[in-house]
Amino acid sequence: MISEEEVKALMLAMKKRYGLDFTNYEVKSLNRGITRLMTKHKMKGMIDLWGKILKDDDFFTSSIDDLLVNLTELFRNPDAWAMIRDEILPTFSKANEIDIWHAGCSTGEEIYTMAIVLEESNMLFKSNMLATDLSQTALDKAKKGVYSKAALKNYLRPFLKFFPDKSLEDYFEFNDTNANIKKRYTRKVTYKRHNLVELKMDKKFDMIFCRNVMIYFDSELKSRILNFLNNCLKDGGYLVLGYYDTMPNESIDIFDVHNNSTRIYKKRLTPIRERYEQESVNS
Ligand SMILES: C[S@@+](CC[C@H](N)C(=O)[O-])C[C@H]1O[C@@H](n2cnc3c(N)ncnc32)[C@H](O)[C@@H]1O
Repeated sequence: MISEEEVKALMLAMKKRYGLDFTNYEVKSLNRGITRLMTKHKMKGMIDLWGKILKDDDFFTSSIDDLLVNLTELFRNPDAWAMIRDEILPTFSKANEIDIWHAGCSTGEEIYTMAIVLEESNMLFKSNMLATDLSQTALDKAKKGVYSKAALKNYLRPFLKFFPDKSLEDYFEFNDTNANIKKRYTRKVTYKRHNLVELKMDKKFDMIFCRNVMIYFDSELKSRILNFLNNCLKDGGYLVLGYYDTMPNESIDIFDVHNNSTRIYKKRLTPIRERYEQESVNS
């Protein structure tokens, strides 16, 4: 059993040694990650891991994936995607371009779900998608867009709930073992390694997806990231969180709730912009 103090001490040492900051991640989740790592490398105690992770750069790099959780699905929570199609995307019907950021995109299933929804709404052609993750392994997989047939079979139910009259063959090229997302989707995506904790982004977006990433953060880090994501949205842009992501009280003031159960929020207009819009409505 690894104690909370041991986890925190290791994260602090890693931050100091490599500059990668896991110090505000939930201890429970890190604890599971550390156990995964120790089991994988047949280590008996924290002392073995401590020595290896702080002395061996390559070991540290390859360990990051074990500390992170990259579970994802195609069409995860179909009612959120239905709301995006029916209520959010129509607000961009007159826009020339739609800029979308998938922060913590993992292996790509969420990106391609959105790309398919955009295509069905006839908006893929004017969309620019940025897909980022801290894990290079997950990002490489997202970029390839190759999924095992067995994995896709698990996604069939939510997919058919969303598209009862379609088949996965409309979107993927199948071979004996795998399915490859069609090129017309990957072409719309820029893939980039990015650490949310560094709070850096040089663009503004109409929509940001940050689903099931902050569940592994403590409430202080969650608030910091929500503030940052709010700054990365254009006025009136939308933030989509995961079902298990909660919006802390201190962050709710900077967003309007579009729909609580699907975790869709809208950036609140700045007061000046609000006044200007109000005046143009009244005049
Ligand atoms: C559970 S997956 C969620 C994937 C997808 N958004 C979804 O909901 O299906 C969480 C992802 O967040 C990424 N992640 C964790 N910490 C991060 C950070 N500091 N910056 C960027 N990505 C991070 C992980 O590598 C992982 O791929």
